[in-house]
Amino acid sequence: MVGERDPLKDVARNLERWTQGIVARVFTQQTIDDLAQWARVPVVNALSDLYHPCQALADVQTIRERFGRWDGLKLAYVGDGNNVAHSLMLTAGRLGMSISVACPAGYEPNAAIVAQARAAGVTVDIVSEAAEAASGAHVIYTDVWASMGQESEALERQRIFAPYQVDESLMARAASDAIFLHCLPAKRGLEVTDAVMESPQSAIFDQAENRLHAQKALLAMLLQ
Ligand code: NVA
Repeated sequence: MVGERDPLKDVARNLERWTQGIVARVFTQQTIDDLAQWARVPVVNALSDLYHPCQALADVQTIRERFGRWDGLKLAYVGDGNNVAHSLMLTAGRLGMSISVACPAGYEPNAAIVAQARAAGVTVDIVSEAAEAASGAHVIYTDVWASMGQESEALERQRIFAPYQVDESLMARAASDAIFLHCLPAKRGLEVTDAVMESPQSAIFDQAENRLHAQKALLAMLLQ
């Protein structure tokens, strides 16, 4: 585990001597922040408990491919107000999309990140009904109900999140040309049905492909 044998400030200053950049997939955001503080090369967050920004880049690329624009589109995020939801608010929101998050009480997105998005001019609605978020949406997005480190809560979360499953009836509330996105891996039969994953509205494998393109573009920009 990074930071266990050597302190992170030493890890950062080793890696910066050998590389032109650090791409780190970690548990806590603090690890990313510490690497960024100590390393003189770019540090990319490839997943933390608070954010999943690289995924969000691929997501907005996929949305742009499908709709030709971002401005004026509504993204409904249904489920756990987690790292993926946070980065979508900050990324898709800043590109002109409005974000509607439907989640059970107690599982809302981080209040400070919602405030940050709103301060940047993003329209973020937090609602309790999945149907309300999905209404008229152009993108329906969900993620696993139990993220990394929450495995012991998985059964309890299955009960709490059951009304938030993305199924065909929820998709029917969205715009007629709406797409379904999921960062994968998905738990079919929990947060999303197999039928939605396999439907013509599902853009999940374009989205997965775009991780490659978006992350190559990010590295190309950072390493110029
Ligand atoms: N929310 C999930 C995303 C996995 C790609 C997690 O943090 O485990």
